[in-house]
Amino acid sequence: MVRERRDVFGEAVNEYANARPGYPDDMIDDVLSYADPVSEILEVGAGTGKATVSFAARGIAMTCLEPDPRMAARLAKECASFPHVTIEVTRLENYSRPLAFDALIAAQSWHWVDPARRWDLAHEALRNGGTIALFWNKYIVADDETRRALQEIDERYGVVNAGNGVTSKENEGEIELEEGWPAYDLASDARFEDLVSRRYRRHLDYDTATYMDLLASTSGYRILADTDRDHLFDEVTRLLDRRSEPLTLNIVTDLFLGRTASPTSSPSDTE
Ligand SMILES: C[S@@+](CC[C@H](N)C(=O)[O-])C[C@H]1O[C@@H](n2cnc3c(N)ncnc32)[C@H](O)[C@@H]1O
Repeated sequence: MVRERRDVFGEAVNEYANARPGYPDDMIDDVLSYADPVSEILEVGAGTGKATVSFAARGIAMTCLEPDPRMAARLAKECASFPHVTIEVTRLENYSRPLAFDALIAAQSWHWVDPARRWDLAHEALRNGGTIALFWNKYIVADDETRRALQEIDERYGVVNAGNGVTSKENEGEIELEEGWPAYDLASDARFEDLVSRRYRRHLDYDTATYMDLLASTSGYRILADTDRDHLFDEVTRLLDRRSEPLTLNIVTDLFLGRTASPTSSPSDTE
């Protein structure tokens, strides 16, 4: 059976929870102030709850969709102290929902939802004037020499598009966020308006074990044959263990916001 990249995350729940960074507080503030008033959020692909906990801690009711039961079980554990978080073990495409959420958020997951249906599904899930907030973390190894060495190992094992640029420098600059596909798709869809995109930057230090968990939680590595992944991880571990300092990652978080447009009033509404 062919494994799909979007289905592999539950194989590495603990590594995911241990190593993936959450989202910057100022980004959470920006989403909430853009979406204001917001009391009920639909979260798509909540995973282990890296974004969920930040919103739930602000007292917002959340309905979280997560199709992988192993991820959902960890999410339930992370959210045990938030009674206003409800978890549904399903893909967005299969969710029969109570409609009219104030906001739909997708952290690192919108690319896994069926591209032919995702914008319709988002529009249906939101009230008039409801907010869609899509965001992604990308990681860039800060040290040039180490990044190049890691890149060379990836290429040798055929790791394509690791998905978050662990060893890529491409997201370091001031790219035009408006050129990214989420912004482009939103701008092409008249049902969404007030489009905004923002970039946030952080730096985090990783020890070797945590960095290896980060790779183990990444679909581009998970999808490799087990023996190839083991050999690649051995090489990376040896490379990092030769270094004397922790590995600094530049973390870039890109946020895309839009609002469902109010239906245009018909002539009879204005008479
Ligand atoms: C990269 S993880 C992101 C998890 C979490 N939001 C975070 O920021 O860490 C992507 C998640 O989306 C889920 N997923 C994949 N396809 C999905 C779909 N069609 N609808 C909802 N969730 C989906 C996966 O099971 C996985 O847990």
